[in-house]
Amino acid sequence: MYIVFEGIDGAGKSTQVQLLKEWLENNGFRVETLVEPTDSEVGKLIRKILQRPDATTDSVQKTLGLLFAADRMLIMDEIEDKSKIFISDRSFISSLAYQEPKEWIEILNKYVKKPDLLILLDSDVKKSVARTSGEDTFENEEFLIKVKDNYLKLAENYTTEIIDASNGINKVSSDIKKAVAPYLGICPDCIQ
Ligand code: TYD
Repeated sequence: MYIVFEGIDGAGKSTQVQLLKEWLENNGFRVETLVEPTDSEVGKLIRKILQRPDATTDSVQKTLGLLFAADRMLIMDEIEDKSKIFISDRSFISSLAYQEPKEWIEILNKYVKKPDLLILLDSDVKKSVARTSGEDTFENEEFLIKVKDNYLKLAENYTTEIIDASNGINKVSSDIKKAVAPYLGICPDCIQ
């Protein structure tokens, strides 16, 4: 199973990916986590470009669309193992939410695995921006309002659980467990 976490910068994805991993392992599953951008050469280049002040301009966004697709393609073989659950912090759905145009991003990601389950952490833009380092050009309110709106529309195309991420870490984590349990046949009483 390929579970993907998505949400705007500062929504708390990395913390929740880790908490879900630990809980699934305690329930006897073999779990691997992934994060995009990755730590590959392409991923490193992406992280540099994200800090450019012109990162939101059309030409840099198109360049990022290409690089994100290439970076992602490098890890596609890893998620073929059917005996494991893969939980990913971001996916091609981030490209659809952050980059344009949609049709072109879809072509670039044609051979990328689609999630079996999308967990969308829906968070308040102001609070989320305050949680970021502010180093990346995308970490600004105006841009992320658009991204949040894109995510809510994109969610309709996948098997999605939308989680209110404005609550405390433990409440969000337990909401995620409750949402994921039915997909894995875990009894609801096992969720604390
Ligand atoms: P993120 O994991 O949020 O960065 P960090 O852990 O350094 O805070 O991802 C980096 C940024 O890249 C984030 O602003 C979202 C953006 N992004 C895209 O624009 N398109 C993509 O396809 C992906 C995977 C990420």
